[in-house]
Amino acid sequence: MKSQAITGNFQDANVDAIVVAVFKDEKATAPFLKELDKTVGGLIAGIFEDEEFKGDAGETALVRFAAAGKGKPSRLLLVGVGKQEDYKIPNVGVLAGTAVRFLLKRNLKSFVLVPRSEADAGEVAQVAMQSVITSQYGIDKYKTKDKNEKVVENFVLCVEGADAGALKGGMNRGEIVGDSMNFTRDMCNEPANILHPTEMAKRAEKMAKETGLKCEILDEAKMKKLGMGSLLSVSQGSEQPPKMIVLKYEPKKSTGKKGELLAIVGKGVCFDTGGISIKPSEGMDAMKHDMTGGGTVIGTMRAIALLKPSIPVLGVVAAVENMPDGKATRPGDVVTAMNGKTIEILNTDAEGRLILADAVAYAEKEGATTIVDMATLTGAVIIALGDLNTAVLGNDQDLINNIIECGKEVGEDYWQLPVGAGYSKQIKSDIADIKNIGASRKAGTIAGAVFIQEFVDKAKWAHLDIAGTAWADDTKAHQSKGPTGICIRTLLRMVEKSQ
Ligand code: BES
Ligand code: ZN
Ligand code: ZN
Repeated sequence: MKSQAITGNFQDANVDAIVVAVFKDEKATAPFLKELDKTVGGLIAGIFEDEEFKGDAGETALVRFAAAGKGKPSRLLLVGVGKQEDYKIPNVGVLAGTAVRFLLKRNLKSFVLVPRSEADAGEVAQVAMQSVITSQYGIDKYKTKDKNEKVVENFVLCVEGADAGALKGGMNRGEIVGDSMNFTRDMCNEPANILHPTEMAKRAEKMAKETGLKCEILDEAKMKKLGMGSLLSVSQGSEQPPKMIVLKYEPKKSTGKKGELLAIVGKGVCFDTGGISIKPSEGMDAMKHDMTGGGTVIGTMRAIALLKPSIPVLGVVAAVENMPDGKATRPGDVVTAMNGKTIEILNTDAEGRLILADAVAYAEKEGATTIVDMATLTGAVIIALGDLNTAVLGNDQDLINNIIECGKEVGEDYWQLPVGAGYSKQIKSDIADIKNIGASRKAGTIAGAVFIQEFVDKAKWAHLDIAGTAWADDTKAHQSKGPTGICIRTLLRMVEKSQ
C-alpha cells in the first residue's frame, strides 16, 4: 500500500475517492462543506435537503461527480461521525475503517481521507493509518476460492494546516501498530492443528529476530527444573509440548526508574478442550483462540520493538494445549507451582489460571515490578460484560486506573471488578493451599483473578479477562468479524505514557 500525508488541496489528490467526516446535523452551508460542494457540483446540499444523510455515526453516502481532470477523484464518500463535541481520536479510527471497507466492496482502491479532527495531528495520522491497515484484515486465509483479495493501493491523509513531520511520524507509528495488531489476529485465527505451542514459539522467535528483541523459549525440561508444576499439569495430557515464550525489550537509553520493569504476560492455550473436565462439543472450535492473551503479548512486543520506547518491557507467554488423555490431570489431583504453593485441581477446564500461576511467578522472578496479564479466562466475564468491556482486576488501584484511562484514549473499554479477602477465601482448599475453582459458580471471573493473585508476590498486578472482547462474532462497518486485537493499543499507550 502506498501512503502519503498532505496538508491541503485534497481535491487534487490522484485517487478514486474523497472521504470526508460529516458531523451530526451539520448544514451544507457550513464553510467546509460549502467549499466542498462546489467541487461536487452542489450534490451535498441536495443529499442533506432530502434527508438522505444526517451525519449519524456510521452513516454513509457515496456520490459520483464529474472529475476535475484525469486521475482526479470522481467520488465523494460522506461518513457520519456523530456529534462534533463527541468526536475523539478513536472515532477517527472508526471513520477510516468504515471508509476502507465501504470503498473496497465497491472496488475503489485509492482514497484521500479528510478526518476534520482538531486533535493532535500526529495522533490523528496514527489512528487513521492503523485503522486503514486493521480494517483490511479478514479471516479467509484458508479459502482457495472466493477469497477477498482487494486491498487499498493508495491511502492519502489530509489534515489541513498540520505539521508535515508530525503527520509522517504518526503514519509510521500507525503502520507499526496496525501491522502488529494484524500479526496477533493472524495467530488467533489459526486453527490449532497449525498453531500449536511449538509454532507459536517459532513465530515469536522469527519476529524477535526481525525486530531485534531478545527471545528465549523455555522447554518442558527447563520448566520442570524451575518447578512449574502448575503449568505442566495442563500440558501433560497433550502430544504437543509446552513452551514458555520470553521476549525482552531493552531501550538503548532508559528513562525508566532504576529497577522498575513492566511485564506483560499472556495465556496461550492453543486449544482448550477442557481436559478431563471436557467441554461440550458445541462451540468447542472457538477454543482455538484461547491463546489470544499470549498472541496479544507477542504482537505488543513486536510493536514495542519497532516503536522503541525508552523503558524496558518483558513479555511472557505460557503456551500449552489442554487435552484429555491417559496422562492428563484428573480432577482432584494436587500439583505444586513454582512459588511452592500447592493446588488442588478440581476442574481441568479452569486451566488458564494454572498456566498463568507459573507465568506471573516467572515474570516476577525475572525482575518484573509491574505485571499485566491477559487471558481469555472465564465464560463468566461474557455473561457479566458481553463483548463491549474487558474486565480489569488487580492489587493496585493506580495501575487499574491507568489501564482504564489509556483504554479510553484509544477506544478500548474496561470495567473493574473487585478482588479481596472474601473472594480469596472461596478458593481455599481442604487438602491443599488453594483450589482452582471457587466454592460455587458465583463470581467466576473474580475467582479466576484471585487465584492468579496468589502467585504475585510484591509486584503491582492487573489481570485483564478478554474472553468477551478477544473475538467479534459479527462484522462491523470498520472491522471484520473474528479476532479483534484487543488490548494491544491500551498496552502501547501505557508504555508510551510511562516513558
Ligand atoms: N477458555 C475458557 C474460557 C472461555 C470461554 C474463553 C468462552 C472464551 C470464550 C476457560 O479456560 C474456561 O473453560 N473457563 C471455565 C472456568 C470454570 C471451569 C471455573 C468457564 O468459564 O466455564
Ligand atoms: Zn478451560
Ligand atoms: Zn481456556
